[in-house]
Amino acid sequence: MTTKPGTRPARPHFSSGPCAKPPGWSPQKLDTRILGRSHRSALGKERLAHCVDLMRELLDLPDSHRIGIVPGSDTGAYEMAMWTMLGQRPVTALAWESFGEGWVTDAVKQLKLDPTVIRADYGELPDLGRVDWSNDVLFTWNGTTSGVRVPDGEWIAGDREGLSFADATSAVFAYPLPWDRIDVATFSWQKALGGEGGHGVLILGPRAVERLESFVPDRPLPKLFRLTSGGKLNEGIFRGETINTPSMLAVEDAILALEWARSIGGLAGMIARTTANAAALDGLVEAREWLGHLARDPATRSTTSVCLTVDADADRIKRMIKLLEAEGVAFDIASYRDAPPGLRIWCGATVDSADIEALGPWLDWAWEASA
Ligand SMILES: Cc1ncc(COP(=O)(O)O)c(C=O)c1O
Repeated sequence: MTTKPGTRPARPHFSSGPCAKPPGWSPQKLDTRILGRSHRSALGKERLAHCVDLMRELLDLPDSHRIGIVPGSDTGAYEMAMWTMLGQRPVTALAWESFGEGWVTDAVKQLKLDPTVIRADYGELPDLGRVDWSNDVLFTWNGTTSGVRVPDGEWIAGDREGLSFADATSAVFAYPLPWDRIDVATFSWQKALGGEGGHGVLILGPRAVERLESFVPDRPLPKLFRLTSGGKLNEGIFRGETINTPSMLAVEDAILALEWARSIGGLAGMIARTTANAAALDGLVEAREWLGHLARDPATRSTTSVCLTVDADADRIKRMIKLLEAEGVAFDIASYRDAPPGLRIWCGATVDSADIEALGPWLDWAWEASA
């Protein structure tokens, strides 16, 4: 067996969710004053509102858009939007990997909406020019399981009649998002922030609020999905008065991550770190004949969930991944279960470039050791 490289990634956390904690994270740094107390106490409300305010600041979210913490992680937030707003007009759903496909399944099988579905294979982006913006449009900003993302928001019509629903969970804090083109966006803290799972974040633009206040869907809505009361938006949700009990530990952890994000220069700092990580990984790919990008077009290649092809069969790839994990140099880098076999290496801001670089020689080692 070839000699093991001398340098190990200091943090072998390259999972695409939950992702690496922010550098320097420790549970001792969490503010625990609220633990064991009511989330509706003055302190609870203050911490929730602080979390909401920090998210607004770090996303550069304009005042036109509301932002709230909801149950059920990203899935909860996105389904809440689908269930409460869809049905008023035709729907188009875009799918180029597993999560987008999941929203198609919701729209077709559960909501029975008969959407127009525009698909592409793993590694490709569908033709965004085909989207009819008189429809409500469902899409994933960054396809976490194929590493293909939309390039920007230019393809979203400024004068759209329908609403744009962006599942932005692995895109926020990594790309600049054009909020004027986004009516609904959802994400969870466990991706680019390195926060905890459990809660989703729901962002609503003014036209989404208008829809909620003017359209009553013909379907039962569980209490967890109810965003309006008496035909009016429940504004409290967007000030931190959550629908039901949140994990204040997860909230405090998100606050810690957001404060770290602020300390490194806010959104610009987060984007810069992500871009540098993706460039470091791209350098490793370029230098190795047996590695490639699943996303074919660099303009639509993710800089967060970077998906790599390996010139080997699925068994050898599995052996590589097992060896790397056993050595403690790379955790959770297998491609998603529904995606083509390969590697997926998270390059979001909480990862350090030095750790991506240190991974290179270990990939070589695993490549040879798995032969
Ligand atoms: C694009 C996308 N959508 C949805 C999800 C599901 O997120 P959650 O587990 O937070 O509900 C994920 C998780 O990886 C994702 O990457």
